[in-house]
Amino acid sequence: RHSIIIDTDPGQDDALAILLALAHGDALDVLGITAVCGNISVRSTAANALKVLALAGREDVPVYLGAASPLVGGLVTAEELHGAAIMDGWDLPVSSAAPRPEFAADWLIETVLSKPAGTVTICALGPLTNIALAVAKCPEIACRVRELVLMGGASQGGNMNAVAEFNMFVDPHAAARVFSAPIRKTVVSLDVTSRLLLTEHELGRLTMGSGRLAQQVGKLLNLYRNSLMAGAPRALHDPAVIAWLLMPEIFSGRALNVEIETSPGFAYGQTIVDVNGVTGRPANAFWLTDADKGAFYALIGHALSKI
Ligand code: BDR
Ligand code: CA
Repeated sequence: RHSIIIDTDPGQDDALAILLALAHGDALDVLGITAVCGNISVRSTAANALKVLALAGREDVPVYLGAASPLVGGLVTAEELHGAAIMDGWDLPVSSAAPRPEFAADWLIETVLSKPAGTVTICALGPLTNIALAVAKCPEIACRVRELVLMGGASQGGNMNAVAEFNMFVDPHAAARVFSAPIRKTVVSLDVTSRLLLTEHELGRLTMGSGRLAQQVGKLLNLYRNSLMAGAPRALHDPAVIAWLLMPEIFSGRALNVEIETSPGFAYGQTIVDVNGVTGRPANAFWLTDADKGAFYALIGHALSKI
């Protein structure tokens, strides 16, 4: 069983990723959730995480408050994409739990140090601020983590400017720190999630299940799908991180060098991916490029029917 920490800013697709992980308790042990600012303020992302746990009947999973702002500059949020409360469409229970008192990055460090080296995987579903703070405070954790699987970046067109993806754009300075740390990384970028677009066909398959969540999730994903980004269908980005842990065989990718653009300007937040290997810089990430869409949605549909 794989021990994981989910660092997240729920967020519709984050919520689904959390549910996907919890539905696979046989394979994944969710040690805790660290909330970060991103889609909305960190107080709200933590509150949303608690509600998603309540929905899954898993209020035993601890939630920690993390960074309230990026390392540099102010927070850019995504309310317009996910709804004002970021979880529009979800009929979420009120959670009786509260975030734990410890700061997310401190808990993350303690947890990674307390477990045998190479056993804890971090799933990063939002901006990398908490991870960068943890690595800055305790660089040893970089080598102790089994893997950091992160959603972010794009080599072929962004969703915030022409080249930058949201999670990287919100805190490129954090991303730059994380990409330069000696931590094993797998990147789920827009390159791969754009292969996982949520169309009517997938939606129909997801809502076929009789589980108590299937219908509700169907309703909200319909809303999510209709809040088109630039008129284009939307992808379920963050669940692909969890899918990578459960079914790596449905993905393809390759080891590449990735650097982050932190200078202000048109390319702010870009992941500069050396696809042709021209820089001579060593590979620092495993960059996913494709996924089996049918298998991915079957995995999510199955998870929903289990909860
Ligand atoms: C990422 O941005 C957020 O809005 C989503 O939750 C996802 O993590 C996609 O660019
Ligand atoms: Ca997210």
